[in-house]
Amino acid sequence: MAKRLFIKTYGCQMNVYDSARMADVLAPLGYAPACEAAAADMVILNTCHIREKAAEKVFSELGRLRRLKAARARRGGAMIVAVAGCVAQAEGAEILRRAPFVDMVFGPQAYHRLPEMVARATRAGSGVLETDFAPEPKFDSLPEAAAPQGISAFLTVQEGCDKFCTFCVVPSPRGAEYSRPAGEVLAEARRLVAAGAREITLLGQNVNAYHGRSPEGGGAWGLGRLIRALAGCEGLVRIRYTTSHPLDMDEELISAHGEVPALMPFLHLPVQSGSNRVLAAMNRRHTVDEYRRVVARLRAARPDIALSSDLIVGYPGETEAEFRATLALVGEVGFAQAYSFKFSPRPGTPAAAMAGQVPEAVKEERLAELQALLRAQQTAFNRACVGRTLPVLFERAGRHPGQLVGRSPYLQAVHARVPEARRAELLGTVAELSIRSALPNSLSGALVAGGAAAGAEIERASA
Ligand code: SAH
Ligand code: SF4
Ligand code: F3S
Repeated sequence: MAKRLFIKTYGCQMNVYDSARMADVLAPLGYAPACEAAAADMVILNTCHIREKAAEKVFSELGRLRRLKAARARRGGAMIVAVAGCVAQAEGAEILRRAPFVDMVFGPQAYHRLPEMVARATRAGSGVLETDFAPEPKFDSLPEAAAPQGISAFLTVQEGCDKFCTFCVVPSPRGAEYSRPAGEVLAEARRLVAAGAREITLLGQNVNAYHGRSPEGGGAWGLGRLIRALAGCEGLVRIRYTTSHPLDMDEELISAHGEVPALMPFLHLPVQSGSNRVLAAMNRRHTVDEYRRVVARLRAARPDIALSSDLIVGYPGETEAEFRATLALVGEVGFAQAYSFKFSPRPGTPAAAMAGQVPEAVKEERLAELQALLRAQQTAFNRACVGRTLPVLFERAGRHPGQLVGRSPYLQAVHARVPEARRAELLGTVAELSIRSALPNSLSGALVAGGAAAGAEIERASA
């Protein structure tokens, strides 16, 4: 009888990719996806440790799972509960101590050993802990066969981080930088495309620090080189990558933005702060000016490139003037979208122990002001798209009947009504859409099919 697996994913896209690969590892054991935890024989929480809130969620979710597991046991059934990901790596045995009903705790570098862990957990009746480190054996022993990820797929090419920003926990759960060999990446990309992917987003904690072994042997490829090779993969129409560090934007990668049509004109390039003093205290290893120069080179290579960022307010010692410098930089660069966070002291990081912790109320105020500015920029960027024709890759059906949803080159979600008869044929293809209206988080458009007249007709038919 088929067993049911439910994976709840927190955190970044790398966790999303890892969750898909865990499902691939468990499929040969007979696990098929469940639609909710209550119906599952195994529940995996794939966790994130980045901010306090993210880590707290895990323990409240575990409380709920304890009750589900007990209810199942009363009906004579069993449920394996596992904690994976960055909280598992960071807290390890502490999770088994606080939540003894948990069967398995394993870090991001151990999930290829899931079958063996499941066997041990079932036999032993006590918690299994796997927090080993090397990423290489993981990628080597993941199954080739993968469940299709859909039209837009993730592909992890790089893991870990050697940067050690003073606020960040990532280097601890994810380990040192590791790049997968280019040949392995290209082979996985071809498999994803064969399974229906038309867009691939290359992932890494510092994806642009990629330096994977070249397929011919001898030397390493940077990310720009890898992207140029991927662009030759037949059937792949769009390439993206995330997350990048400003320091690792080299010439080959920047020029790829001007030369590789499949490389989308959107880049998430976290700056964190607009103050040189704060950037230095964060150990970001770049100045505000260096960030400006990278942006200028990107815009020279690809004038319409849309930028996104991560920003932190209330870093220890951040003064009002330093916060204003962040607002000024945001105003100057102009982001199409961005994420912003209150500094969250994380266990074991240098910033958590620094003097000058900023009061919560001040962080709240600064965040609200920054987010108002970012929202205004995002709205302005979306509004500026109204009236333009944009190529949209249709990814899925929308919430309303007759609707398809896709993404613009700039990663905006775009909704369109399309005639019933054309829906199946349009999914997974890039269609020209005339953008009609903009909401803060999405656009809506109408098909332009081979010329204005046909376009108008289709619009009427779908109105
Ligand atoms: N590797 C990426 C992003 C890693 S985490 C990079 O270097 O840019 C994603 C974002 O979370 C970071 O860019 C940062 O803005 C935010 N973040 C990380 N640690 C944080 C902390 N302790 N408090 C608040 N935000 C944090
Ligand atoms: Fe964290 Fe900095 Fe590494 Fe990004 S570069 S993962 S913020 S330590
Ligand atoms: Fe979170 Fe780990 Fe990603 S801490 S952001 S899930 S690398």
